[in-house]
Amino acid sequence: MANGLDDVVAADTVLSDVDGVGGHLTIRGHSLAELAGRWRYAQVVRLLFDGFFDDLPGDAELEKAIGKARVEVFDRVKPLLAKLPRLDIYSGMRAGMAILPDGDGLADALRLIAAPAVLTAALLRLGQGETPITPDEKADHAGDMLRMLAGTASPALAKALDSYLVTVCDHGLNASTFATRVVASTQAGLTSAILAGLGALKGPLHGGAPGPVIEMLDAIEASGDATAWLSDEIAHGERIMGFGHRIYRVRDPRADALKAVVRQLGSCNETSSRLAFAEKVEQAALDVLRIAKPQRSIQTNVEFYTALLLEAVGFPKEAFSNVFAAGRAAGWIAHAREQQATGRLIRPQSRYVGPLPDLVA
Ligand code: ACO
Repeated sequence: MANGLDDVVAADTVLSDVDGVGGHLTIRGHSLAELAGRWRYAQVVRLLFDGFFDDLPGDAELEKAIGKARVEVFDRVKPLLAKLPRLDIYSGMRAGMAILPDGDGLADALRLIAAPAVLTAALLRLGQGETPITPDEKADHAGDMLRMLAGTASPALAKALDSYLVTVCDHGLNASTFATRVVASTQAGLTSAILAGLGALKGPLHGGAPGPVIEMLDAIEASGDATAWLSDEIAHGERIMGFGHRIYRVRDPRADALKAVVRQLGSCNETSSRLAFAEKVEQAALDVLRIAKPQRSIQTNVEFYTALLLEAVGFPKEAFSNVFAAGRAAGWIAHAREQQATGRLIRPQSRYVGPLPDLVA
């Protein structure tokens, strides 16, 4: 019985490949190293969407269309916004996205790309008693997300956030992408499919890990002894957030891509001392895990340096999973369209191991 479906192939895809032994991520024929820090998010959206929408425009036009979609989403969710801050920031974003039309066209897809950025910034501002900032349709997506959050966006921070969105845009058949494909296979529409992905991403074993990474770093800083703190966690059966992966037996290549972005930011703001501390914690965690779990190679995953990067660009830890969703939306939508185009209804079997009914003579 494949508890957790390890090694089960549930889809053929042209979108991305995760090599967990070599530590490589390929996205539509490009290595992560080719894309991260070099391609803009809108270009990667185009790369992933290519072939799945008849009316897909070129890069420049697509960037403009995403800008227009941000404005459209803002107008649609505005009447709801005052009610959403009562929810936590992730649930508020999900609730706002749930009111979007449930079609399968490019306009539907672009609204779903735009919505996490628009809703996260607006809800964070409302939570601080400030008025949401209207999107600027001419700005680039990452820069506008930061501007909607803080009123301004430095080019360095916008580039860092853009690199993050690119780095997490797609990653094989992870739990949230599988959930998205299951719903897409029923022909339910893109919004329904992406809501399924959002539900799966939220959990701490998947996209909910980076907020707890910050809590861990703060707790270790307060304790003053990383090895003792981490060993104590393991002794109490806790997992070390930002470490371990179902597929990677080596270091997640996205960890180094994101660390490089944080290092670049460190030269122009206060991030360098945080990075130096995080590197020490990372080494201590790897040492503790090697001793505690010698049977399994547990290495740094994407979430460890995600936490540092998103903290450095100005997001509070409660919103880290929202920003992850903003990047991953591109992959989810492409997978949903691919499933609709090439797949069938996903309907596996379970094996009944419960009690049998009494046999009536
Ligand atoms: N800390 C401590 N122990 C761990 C960790 C960890 N981070 N990761 C795995 N293990 C241990 C488990 O306790 C288990 O030990 P045992 O055999 O002694 O019981 C063993 O490794 C295998 O664990 P599984 O849960 O079967 O391994 P799986 O492949 O499902 O784990 C997962 C992957 C869920 C990501 C896990 O490594 C984990 O919980 N990590 C911490 C949370 C995290 O960082 N999540 C983000 C993942 S990246 C992403 O989704 C974007």
